[in-house]
Amino acid sequence: MTKTFYVTTPIYYVNAEPHIGHAYTTINADFLARWHRLDGYDTFFLTGTDEHGEKIAQAAARAGKAPQQFVDEVSAKFKKAWEILHISYDDFIRTTEPRHKKVVQRYLQEIYDRGDIYYGEYEGLYCVGCERFLTEKELVDGKCPDHGVEPEPRREGNYFFKMEKYRAWLRDHINKNPDFIRPERYRNEVLSILSEPIGDLSISRPKSRVSWGIELPWDPDHVTYVWFDALLNYISALGYPDGERYKKYWPAAQHMIGKDILKTHAVFWPTMLKAGEVEVYKHLNVGGHLLAEGRKMSKSLGNVIDPFEWSEKYGPDAVRYYLLKETPYGLDGVVSEEGLIERYNADLANDLGNLLQRVRTMVLKYREGVLHRREPGPGEAEVVAAAEGLVGKVRGYVRELRFNQALEEVLQFVRLLNRYVNERAPWKIKDPEDLDRVLYTVVDGLRMAAVLLEPAMPVKMAELRAALGLGELSVADVEGWGGLPDGHRLPEEAPILFPKVEGEKKQAKGPAAKTAKKDEAATIAYDDFAKLDLRVARVKSVEKHPNADRLLVIKLDVGGEERTVVGGLAAHYKPEELVGKKVVLLANLKPRKLRGVVSHGMLLAAEGADGTLALLQPDREVESGSKIS
Ligand code: MSP
Repeated sequence: MTKTFYVTTPIYYVNAEPHIGHAYTTINADFLARWHRLDGYDTFFLTGTDEHGEKIAQAAARAGKAPQQFVDEVSAKFKKAWEILHISYDDFIRTTEPRHKKVVQRYLQEIYDRGDIYYGEYEGLYCVGCERFLTEKELVDGKCPDHGVEPEPRREGNYFFKMEKYRAWLRDHINKNPDFIRPERYRNEVLSILSEPIGDLSISRPKSRVSWGIELPWDPDHVTYVWFDALLNYISALGYPDGERYKKYWPAAQHMIGKDILKTHAVFWPTMLKAGEVEVYKHLNVGGHLLAEGRKMSKSLGNVIDPFEWSEKYGPDAVRYYLLKETPYGLDGVVSEEGLIERYNADLANDLGNLLQRVRTMVLKYREGVLHRREPGPGEAEVVAAAEGLVGKVRGYVRELRFNQALEEVLQFVRLLNRYVNERAPWKIKDPEDLDRVLYTVVDGLRMAAVLLEPAMPVKMAELRAALGLGELSVADVEGWGGLPDGHRLPEEAPILFPKVEGEKKQAKGPAAKTAKKDEAATIAYDDFAKLDLRVARVKSVEKHPNADRLLVIKLDVGGEERTVVGGLAAHYKPEELVGKKVVLLANLKPRKLRGVVSHGMLLAAEGADGTLALLQPDREVESGSKIS
């Protein structure tokens, strides 16, 4: 029996143009899809656009366009974006397509007929940005934490889905299936949501207020609530309920989402599936957010980094590699162009690209391009041992969604090959057989790397294979040393795989520059001081850092905004001692990752003669968020 694999991205709202946050989630999903195809799985990869609802209708109106024309245009931009980034989706679903609407109406009717939908009045606080009612508990200082606006009080007649009825079942399912929601932190978050009543879900909007949606099959005065509509894309695209694809792929479903849409996917969606008597998905994989200057990138915050501009400058594969390699999946990550250049030059241009150049030059020069397979000797022991274990390790990391580790494992192997070449120094070897052995081992190793890095860099790895005279290969072809056939020939010409990128010129480093710098450091201009954004902040909660005994993870309230700061205070304060304290925060410090957790700022403390730290505090009552000068 063939193994099957089904992976989905969220379907993206068409109120914003594709940005790096969308690209990040999609690249993670594409990595998984490509890996599974290479590893022999019959794979289906779905993405698409979410085109109904209030938010979209408002965006269309702002653009002065009819909703359908507007969604057609923006949806096409997502398709174009995924083409640029080499996203290998098998289907692209749009919620305005008839095939989707049909399934939504059918599904609603089925659960309505079973008695799981009723009509009622609802009063609550609605956030249009989230397109859902928020609970009091979710608000931070009366505002939506994701959109920074006060939700609107709303009272209206709606249809409700009996979601609460399925709460106990869902808790049980999550408890019995530890990897249903992963990484674990998100599973715990969902279990905590489910430890209290979740209420029923309003699943319709009166047409008098929102008309841009799918009509309820039994009441033409209401349209379907956008999340109920959108979540069903994951099965409508497969041809639920009778389609062949549905039968084949749905049992293997894995959703990739960002942490902002955890509740809808981990609570709404499984209860909806249960009510429709559909088997629930296998895994919900939850990614962190990419941050620019310490905040989530979003259009409304105006801090969007353009992955397409980066792709043009450095190539799409470099962007893919950087995003996958830089941040452990599940955690927030900070990205920058500087970081991309550094990673590109170190891993791709130096470690991988140079090795290819060197070995090609030697094979062409010493052996007229032909490789001879010689059994490895003691000099190859380390490389052979690493090659034997490599596929297994990478496969294990991919299975655990540790994409950055999977890539690092291959890069370590490439570094080992570099060391091996330096140690064995083929240019000094006199024995022709031994020379063959070394050249073969390096090319065979590069062949492995080309396959294992392909899910991250599909086009560049095809180029690498071409430079090695190889066609398409699968993971099974590179399990262990020695898969390259005897007598294999390298092509005479091959372009440089990863030309080195010159970054922005750093400051001059000569001795004169050093002295100048020293003098400047003695005093600073007021303008320099004015660059510091110092604020009073209130400590909301404190936890021990998961990976470092010295560090505390401190959540702050800064005038209504929540901030996380990581500080080396564990030896100086007990977490509970800090809660409620007003402290001094350097708020515009570049975010920094400390042992896997991103810190958005720094707390100011004085160091006593014995090394004890004392946090600075205002000496009379001031509001959190107050500016310090
Ligand atoms: N339309 C809904 C999803 C419906 S799925 C049935 C939606 N769309 S969205 O366009 O607003 O965002 C979707 C996803 O984009 C987020 O969950 C997240 O995966 C990704 N990202 C958006 N901004 C992001 C970052 N700054 N960083 C990483 N990913 C983020 O929600």
